[in-house]
Amino acid sequence: MLSGKKVVLRALEREDLKSMHKWQNDEDIMRLARPFPDHVISMVALETEYEKELRGEDTGRRAFIIEEKSTGRSVGFASIRIQKFQRRMTSADIGLALGEKRAWKKGFGTETTRLLLDEMFHQLNLHRAEWWTYAENNASLKLAEKMGFKEDGRLREAVFFDNKFHDIVVLGMLKDEYRHVKS
Ligand SMILES: CC(C)(COP(=O)(O)OP(=O)(O)OC[C@H]1O[C@@H](n2cnc3c(N)ncnc32)[C@H](O)[C@@H]1OP(=O)(O)O)[C@@H](O)C(=O)NCCC(=O)NCCS
Repeated sequence: MLSGKKVVLRALEREDLKSMHKWQNDEDIMRLARPFPDHVISMVALETEYEKELRGEDTGRRAFIIEEKSTGRSVGFASIRIQKFQRRMTSADIGLALGEKRAWKKGFGTETTRLLLDEMFHQLNLHRAEWWTYAENNASLKLAEKMGFKEDGRLREAVFFDNKFHDIVVLGMLKDEYRHVKS
């Protein structure tokens, strides 16, 4: 369990899939948070996606539930996904979404990101954190930049949804840069 002042990141359990199903079918939450244009996801698709994770057999991804510390209620989900296309595993993507809108803009995203970065750099000894988002996701970009991520590149018009193409922004942070941010 990764514990902060406002939130706790705990393991995903099978009973959390009900909340995941609600959050991942909520367009307000997911419109700019999906890696691909998919406006609905079934419970079976979610069960299939997370089955290996639930069994502890997914060595490449850690999925977490974000719990509000003061109430113990789950408010969202987060992940660390190690990039497996490299022979030496040095980088991982960060993903997070607060599925309960009342939890937005209270610093939960900031603390969740810090806990994920601590885990990546101080426990897993990774060298590089990556953050992919759509160019119009202001909240995501603001959070990434606040944490010290720097824009590494832009995939122009990479994804099509809502009748137009959207740019993807790729941001990165190296372990040394995180040390610098923290001090
Ligand atoms: C992105 C998200 C996780 C941010 O979490 P959050 O808890 O609201 O963020 P925080 O309260 O920690 O705020 C972090 C910074 O971002 C800013 N911010 C938050 N929401 C913002 C918004 N909608 N527009 C502009 N800036 C915003 C805050 O002001 C803060 O900056 P500051 O400290 O300089 O004032 C949350 O909006 C969310 O879950 N969105 C839906 C899913 C999503 O898009 N996930 C990201 C996928 S890449």
